[in-house]
Amino acid sequence: MKLNEIKTNDAFNYGYLLKRIFPYIKPLLFRIAITFALAIPLGLLDGVTAFVLKPYIDVVVNGQTIDWHGYILTRDLLAKIIPPGIVIFAGVQGILRYLNTYLSDWISLTIVNSVKIDLFKKLVYLDSKFYDDNSSGLVISRFLSDPDNASRSLIHSIKTLITSFTSALGLIFVLLYNSWELAFVGVIVLICAFVPMALLRKKIKQVSNKTTVVGGNITTSFNETYKGNKVISGYNLQESTYIKIKTLIRETFDLHMSLTKRTGWLSPIMYIIASCGIAVVMFVGNELIATDRLTTGSFASFITSLLLLYKPVKTLGNDLTNIQNVFVAINRVFDLFDFNSRIEDKGQKELNFIPQNIEFKNIKFSYDNSKEILKGISFSARRGQTIAIVGNSGGGKSTIVNLLPRFYDVNEGGIFFDCINIKDFSLNSLRNSISQVFQNNFLFSGTIKENILIGNKNATQEELDKVLKAAHLDEFISTLKNGIDTDVAENGVSLSGGQQQRIAIARAMIKNAPIVVLDEATSALDNKSEKVVQKALDNLMQDRTVFVIAHRLSTIFNADKIIVVDNGQIVEMGTHEELINISDGKYRNLYNMQFKNQEEILENV
Ligand SMILES: Nc1ncnc2c1ncn2[C@@H]1O[C@H](COP(=O)(O)OP(=O)(O)OP(=O)(O)O)[C@@H](O)[C@H]1O
Ligand SMILES: [Mg+2]
Repeated sequence: MKLNEIKTNDAFNYGYLLKRIFPYIKPLLFRIAITFALAIPLGLLDGVTAFVLKPYIDVVVNGQTIDWHGYILTRDLLAKIIPPGIVIFAGVQGILRYLNTYLSDWISLTIVNSVKIDLFKKLVYLDSKFYDDNSSGLVISRFLSDPDNASRSLIHSIKTLITSFTSALGLIFVLLYNSWELAFVGVIVLICAFVPMALLRKKIKQVSNKTTVVGGNITTSFNETYKGNKVISGYNLQESTYIKIKTLIRETFDLHMSLTKRTGWLSPIMYIIASCGIAVVMFVGNELIATDRLTTGSFASFITSLLLLYKPVKTLGNDLTNIQNVFVAINRVFDLFDFNSRIEDKGQKELNFIPQNIEFKNIKFSYDNSKEILKGISFSARRGQTIAIVGNSGGGKSTIVNLLPRFYDVNEGGIFFDCINIKDFSLNSLRNSISQVFQNNFLFSGTIKENILIGNKNATQEELDKVLKAAHLDEFISTLKNGIDTDVAENGVSLSGGQQQRIAIARAMIKNAPIVVLDEATSALDNKSEKVVQKALDNLMQDRTVFVIAHRLSTIFNADKIIVVDNGQIVEMGTHEELINISDGKYRNLYNMQFKNQEEILENV
């Protein structure tokens, strides 16, 4: 299943999504409650300034005296109390705001971290098929941005939603306190301002989905610029690569702009509605003051509240949109979580013995359930034997050996170690028993030593020295200034093909596993380095059960059994002597075409 083919139907199923993200929220519930609780006074305090304007204007400016529940508020008293009071309130609000921001950042980053760590754990255990199917760019951008959007914005949006809501509540209280008639007008304005929000939900979701897909394509293309830079230069693809990225970047631009086009008018519309409200309020207010139903202080306080109300109402709208996006992101995160490795690790047995007999029994396999790649493969290997697999390109040789460590599982038939299906072994113990040298070996960024010790991190210095010698690396390493601690550039690019291969062979040797799988790829090597690599391989193959995709004549000569694979089937099987004598046989043809000139070279050396 490909990631970008998943239909995100659950994006509006809020209950379901909250339930899924809840385990990450649960340990932080208390702190989240504090954060949200802090948001309440933070919002309510907005109303205080507006509230005190009434007594300030009526008493201090206009010189009235107010009897407030038995307390006589005189002009002198209020003139002294109100100004410093406002500063103190602002101070309190500032401290609360700081605490609130700190806490909510801490909480949301903690959630993001746990989600990312779990998600990576999930990804790193996924099977090869997932990595075949999904481009690196898409997975990377989903991994990097969705958990952030999901958790950070969730906490942030709820927090500001609460602040905005309580701020609005506080201000509405001030409105009602001053004049219910005017407040009535204000509330109607408020409702009108909310309507456009509801209309936009779906559009935002569609656009933000598309943006991730395009963003992923950009990352993929960028990765390819790195990996394929020589092909790009050699084939003069700079211009077309540039145009490809340019198109994608423009596409992101268009997507973003279409979102802005759809949502950008929201804020001006709300502003216009609000100013209409203020205009009406001024008109009605004027009438009320003229008929002595409203003091000037109340009116000033009212207008200030109404102006202050614009911000929380607007933020409320934005928060609701953000929360929509949060759910889209949560949904995408859990789409990724829902991928399960097709390779089930249910085996109870530990493979802690050396198999005497390995049998491939009538194996049928396809990568995508449409085209059958292996069409009934059967052969066996006894302990210590070398099985050479030969055949035309694309015949299925690499596929056969990839089934042994269960990078993929067979569709039919099975692989048996001493009559036990490999699926019955724990995946860990199975893979521990197999050393593998791939067609393209991957070196991690780090030193040569670190790359070799991947095979066995507990190896002793003695073992390491032995392996370096056996892999014919000792001579090369002694020429390096930092020796075995020399840094290997990303992907091993600073080393020659043969050097990389020998490091991979050393890695496989130090693992010291009883079964060896080799996807020989020596065409890139010259005769001299090929000989060195071959000696290294011979050392690796000693006393083990070896499955080797052979390109070298000597490997084939020395093999106990040669399997000729063509179009997903074994067409011939036997020793070199047996197969070469089949007139018009596949092996004989292959030998004449591929291997015979190697024989001449061998003779001449
Ligand atoms: N990851 C994959 N997903 C889908 N199809 C694949 C995958 N890997 C290989 N195939 C297909 O499976 C078939 C066998 O490929 P395989 O790599 O086993 O051939 P091979 O015999 O090793 O060839 P070569 O000698 O060129 O390495 C090919 O048709 C190939 O297109
Ligand atoms: Mg291959």
